[in-house]
Amino acid sequence: MRTPFVAGNWKMNKTVAEARELVAGMGPALKQVQGVDKVLCPPFVALLAVANLVSGTEIGLGAQNMHWEEKGAFTGEVAPGMLKEFCQYVILGHSERRTYFGETDETVNKKVLAAQKQGLTPIVCVGETLAQYESGQTAQIVRRQVLEGLKGLDLAFAAQIVVAYEPVWAIGTGKASSAENAEMVHRDVVRAALTDLFGEAAAQSIRILYGGSVTAVNAAEFFSQPDIDGALVGGASLKPAEFLAICQAAAQ
Ligand code: 13P
Repeated sequence: MRTPFVAGNWKMNKTVAEARELVAGMGPALKQVQGVDKVLCPPFVALLAVANLVSGTEIGLGAQNMHWEEKGAFTGEVAPGMLKEFCQYVILGHSERRTYFGETDETVNKKVLAAQKQGLTPIVCVGETLAQYESGQTAQIVRRQVLEGLKGLDLAFAAQIVVAYEPVWAIGTGKASSAENAEMVHRDVVRAALTDLFGEAAAQSIRILYGGSVTAVNAAEFFSQPDIDGALVGGASLKPAEFLAICQAAAQ
């Protein structure tokens, strides 16, 4: 009942020219993949170019971050309303933003509420570090990130958000979580926390993605798990054939 969802997080890769080339390479085949919500998340400066290339298709567009204020003296920041001109989605609270740019559950929550106000669907990232994983704190950390990051949302909006579980130790390492471990966190931690926040019906409609070294080879195993509703793909989203294969795996 939950439509599979696959998003490509390009991170800080691709100039506008390179972004055009990448979308030209995979766009036609990507459009053919039915029954999956497919979303591209290029850097800010490539959003307009990619928006033009995917307009009129079912390929969605997302940003990788935003500020929570509507406008004003915040040099270097991008406001929700600026993204709304091009995007339907915005990635919020990615672990790289938490680690390198000081984002906290509190600032993530401000951004999530700002996304709601603007009608942008947030893809909210949660996940434990290697040290937290090794000391058995995964459930505690991820539960707190979900509860604190998503508090205060309206029920109707909550049902349409997307959550991505990305264990930090699996990001860009080539060491993906096992599908069983990811399923356990999705079901027993993330969806359980969503149920506590928003109730059973809304929690059952929220897509929970797995992220962290997803490839064309391991994607199908993740998607066969009942509570893994798709993927947030980093490195593999920069390779057209690979990203396409992941989207096709989600369609099956
Ligand atoms: P990789 O797929 O490169 O591990 O990155 C995952 C990620 O951080 C997506 O947001």
